[in-house]
Amino acid sequence: MSRADVVTARGAAVRRGGRTVWSGVDVTVHAGEFVAVLGPNGVGKSTFLQVVLGLVAPADGEVRVLGGAPGSANRRIGYLPQRHAFDAGTRVRGVDVVRLGWDGDRWGVPLPFGGARAKAARERVDEVVELVGAGDYAHRPIGRLSGGEQQRLLIAQALVRRPDLLLLDEPLDSLDVTNQASVSALIQHVCRSQGVAVLLVAHDVNPILPYLDQVLYLAPTGAIMGPPADVITADTLTMLYGTPIDVLHDRTGRLVVVGQPDTHEHH
Ligand SMILES: Nc1ncnc2c1ncn2[C@@H]1O[C@H](COP(=O)(O)OP(=O)(O)O)[C@@H](O)[C@H]1O
Ligand SMILES: [Mg+2]
Repeated sequence: MSRADVVTARGAAVRRGGRTVWSGVDVTVHAGEFVAVLGPNGVGKSTFLQVVLGLVAPADGEVRVLGGAPGSANRRIGYLPQRHAFDAGTRVRGVDVVRLGWDGDRWGVPLPFGGARAKAARERVDEVVELVGAGDYAHRPIGRLSGGEQQRLLIAQALVRRPDLLLLDEPLDSLDVTNQASVSALIQHVCRSQGVAVLLVAHDVNPILPYLDQVLYLAPTGAIMGPPADVITADTLTMLYGTPIDVLHDRTGRLVVVGQPDTHEHH
């Protein structure tokens, strides 16, 4: 039996700033899958997440998200945008940041109801703080926490409304190697234990490689999706980009992709 699809795209294309970012993109993400979105700088990985959220409309093709048009089910999606850092002076506590996920778009505005709903919110915040292992520091000012601790709390924020789909844009980017590994393991744990599908944008696949169900490799003229071992090969990527690409394996099993064209800047 096939499970319900969370995201599908057929022949999708996007134009931004007067040029086509990508076209001919086919995607299928099943419920509960952990998928990495890969590709060189500027290829349109963040744009893909914005299409899923309905923030950028496809210029061509069809995109469906959680059974409807993109944007129609955003309450069932948790989103962590790229490059979200708090400066050291930020006094707001970790739990307050997580709570903002519950209150949705009403950033910083206390909601006009108390009692049972406030209690439900508090309980759910405690639950996700526990889930991401942030109990020891969630009550400290978030500006004083390490990058890894901040990232766990932001993941908790994205999870607080029990999403069916989690969109994480380069959540490992600012972390050291140890935190990259532990946050990757956490994301897989969340994916498996909560049954939430995860689309994670990365420019280095290595930290998440052991945990992935599929990778989605984007290129200007299309995309290839499948298990990492099938997609991240010299032949597949050379075909996708139309330029010679090598995939090197070092002694620790890390993959290094060589020769990927950078697609930004010249526009
Ligand atoms: N708001 C925007 N308006 C116009 N062009 C944009 C906008 N955001 C991104 N782009 C362009 O779209 C392309 C893809 O960008 P992006 O999705 O951020 O790539 P990636 O996340 O893979 O690095 C780039 O050429 C970028 O300059
Ligand atoms: Mg990006």
